[in-house]
Amino acid sequence: MSPTPVTFASPTAPIAYAWEATDEAVAERYGIPIDQVARFDLNTSPVPPDLAVRLLAENRFDRPISEYPPSDYRALVAAAAARYEVGADEIIVGAGADEILDLIAKAFLPPGGSAVIPTPSYAMYRVDTEQRGATVRGVPRLGPEAGFAMDVAGVRVAARGSDVVWLCSPNNPTGLAEPDGAIESLLGFLAADAASEGVESPIVVLDEAYAEFVGTSLLGLRAAYPRFIGIRTASKAYALAGLRVGFAIARPEIIDRMAPYRPPGSVAVPSVAIVTAALRDDDILAGNIGRVERERARLSGALVAAGWTVRPSVTNFVLVDFGTPDAAGRVAEALMRRGLVPRTFPSGHPLAHCLRITVRSEGEDDRVITAARDLAEGRP
Ligand SMILES: Cc1ncc(COP(=O)(O)O)c(C=O)c1O
Repeated sequence: MSPTPVTFASPTAPIAYAWEATDEAVAERYGIPIDQVARFDLNTSPVPPDLAVRLLAENRFDRPISEYPPSDYRALVAAAAARYEVGADEIIVGAGADEILDLIAKAFLPPGGSAVIPTPSYAMYRVDTEQRGATVRGVPRLGPEAGFAMDVAGVRVAARGSDVVWLCSPNNPTGLAEPDGAIESLLGFLAADAASEGVESPIVVLDEAYAEFVGTSLLGLRAAYPRFIGIRTASKAYALAGLRVGFAIARPEIIDRMAPYRPPGSVAVPSVAIVTAALRDDDILAGNIGRVERERARLSGALVAAGWTVRPSVTNFVLVDFGTPDAAGRVAEALMRRGLVPRTFPSGHPLAHCLRITVRSEGEDDRVITAARDLAEGRP
């Protein structure tokens, strides 16, 4: 008799991350030259830092690309520790913040567990949670009049018995930071609730992918709340998304829990060298942040003048409210016909009536501004 077959397939398929159409797909679909396609959906900066371009051109890294990167990324960790003002034993490196999210989910979300997400927020929190066979407890954010702040009381209730709480400040896709003191008071409540129930408090992840744009950070909260994990990335303010480098910052005992899940050498040799140099450089950050602030004000002002409802933002993207999903869909289609790719939100999403638009170069942003004026004047 043959043995009963064993299956390792997960009984439920996790939700998949949904990208916008690729450059190639947009060019083909709308008959536009591929170099006319501009990405307003990815919250990247349009121009990499000179330092990075020079290092790449020199093709001289601390080891040849025939070799693996150093297994402990020692120089990169030291540069990140100095930049974020934390200990080297409080950092773990990943291939972008996305790999860090994955490591956290693997380390702290058991199958059948649960994670809290103030929604809407970055889509990968749900993807990573569901990939672990855990469930999402979504807590709707307050409305635009309250800056889309998280509902602290609601998150507190949902966090009872949860393994992980995914926070993001400034939040993608809404563009604002949590109000002063909100995250601190949530952590206080979670610690008190866990103490009164005699259980371990949940891991609280604070994704600070956009923190440099506001110039403040809450990484210091790991002192008072030991189960805190902060996340940083080279992708946004450093304009180095293509290098794929991100970090978790947490107390050493939390880093030790994540370390077994880290793949060996997922960050490429050129990425290690360039991000190390970028983290040691003050000018890159200052230059790009100043540029984004000025360009965000110019872009928002021009879009408002064309009749669009642009929500306030402290990041390198803005949320635009078109009132209904149909209206947002029509504008998205008109932008795509011009090779301009906005971030759309699927039907049923709380922001289905909105589009998210990255602040890019003046030249690229002018094309969105022209499109908004065309639409206002009836030229679809
Ligand atoms: C909030 C947030 N976290 C993480 C990421 C992913 O960053 P990385 O490029 O470092 O993987 C993004 C990218 O858009 C993001 O918006």
